[in-house]
Amino acid sequence: MTSKRYAQIVGWGKYVPTQVLTNDDLAKMVDTSDDWIRARTGIVERRIADPRETTSTMSIKAARAALQVADVAPERLDLIIVTTATPDYLFPATACLVQDALGARRAGAFDLLAGCSGFVYGLGVGSQLIISGAYENVLVIGAETLSRIMDWTDRNTCVLFGDGAGALLLQASDAPGGVLSFTLGADGSGGDLLMLPGGGSRHPASAETVAQKLHYARMNGREVFRFATRIMGQAAKEAIQAAELKIDDVDLFIPHQANIRIIQSAAKHLGLPMDKVFVNLDRYGNTSCASIPIAFCEAIEEERIKPGDHLVLVSFGAGLTWASAVVQWHVPLPAPRLPGWKRLLRRVRYCWARLVSRLRRTYRKFSSWWGKAVGRIRGNNNG
Ligand code: ACO
Repeated sequence: MTSKRYAQIVGWGKYVPTQVLTNDDLAKMVDTSDDWIRARTGIVERRIADPRETTSTMSIKAARAALQVADVAPERLDLIIVTTATPDYLFPATACLVQDALGARRAGAFDLLAGCSGFVYGLGVGSQLIISGAYENVLVIGAETLSRIMDWTDRNTCVLFGDGAGALLLQASDAPGGVLSFTLGADGSGGDLLMLPGGGSRHPASAETVAQKLHYARMNGREVFRFATRIMGQAAKEAIQAAELKIDDVDLFIPHQANIRIIQSAAKHLGLPMDKVFVNLDRYGNTSCASIPIAFCEAIEEERIKPGDHLVLVSFGAGLTWASAVVQWHVPLPAPRLPGWKRLLRRVRYCWARLVSRLRRTYRKFSSWWGKAVGRIRGNNNG
């Protein structure tokens, strides 16, 4: 008889850009104020990617940190899921760029789009691929460069969002715990409430779509707010029930960091005191798919998580979508720091991965040139 498998979280990592944009900075750009933003959202500042940073570069940093914590080599990864609404390109998938940079040569890689709920969707998918026995190690990343799709003249949206990335490494284990349950939901009738209209097959990029500002995020904030306050508590309750737990069993609630009033309303709905709720949106704003994994990493850093704890993650977003999950923490904390030589070895590995990637590209160019040259010579000889 085979023993039951569990999907444990064994590695975690985050990356946030260094550039800070405060509410006061924003008040110089649009008609808003620090008071309004703090009171209506709870946000004080957010991070903005520099021009060289993209969703893949931030994902790679978060992923490397997660692999280092778990002391897992990239070659052992079976799958990389990047959850994002702001990929580097429509294709190739950002997950493939991450796979290449890590040198994760055995791993499959794909992007998952489910608005801000993407990360919890990814956790659900990744954990099931482990529990089913298909995979041993799955890396789930949430990363966003939302600053690139903001209309910086629209105060209704630009004050809310920020950039960053977080990653969790799931690993198969016989020890009970890990991702105990999850629920996923969608209501596409609300798709128009939060969307990026341009750049897809409906409105491909053209001078007109640029002039009409279709490449910026658009949102009906009031309706999204109403939806979020209704769904967050409900979705969390469903995952708690599916894990056969009660609200009293919840040790820490890690909600999507969109608006403090939405978080407070969900906590109230669940009957959870705010000291059991993790909040960091004051420092990062809404980082969409990155919000839960960044919050997760910071909850660990702040020693808010200990072995045996039940954690509830819940998110909502464009689609409309929602998702929730219950995790039972298993890994001893703090995680042991890798010895210097192992960290050095990791750096060498990533340099090697970059070199191998360059060699592959060069070889492809050379073999394509060679194929054409041989074809031309044969054509000349035949002629
Ligand atoms: N500064 C000053 N005033 C503003 C600003 C601003 N930055 N933004 C809007 N206002 C004004 C509005 O124009 C409006 O003025 P009006 O009454 O003259 O029209 C007034 O403030 C009140 O607007 P409301 O929409 O009623 O404000 P509300 O209290 O609902 O807060 C907010 C707006 C913060 C956007 C809120 O609705 C919200 O958080 N909604 C959810 C948004 C969200 O979480 N989106 C992310 C989804 S997840 C994903 O997939 C990305």
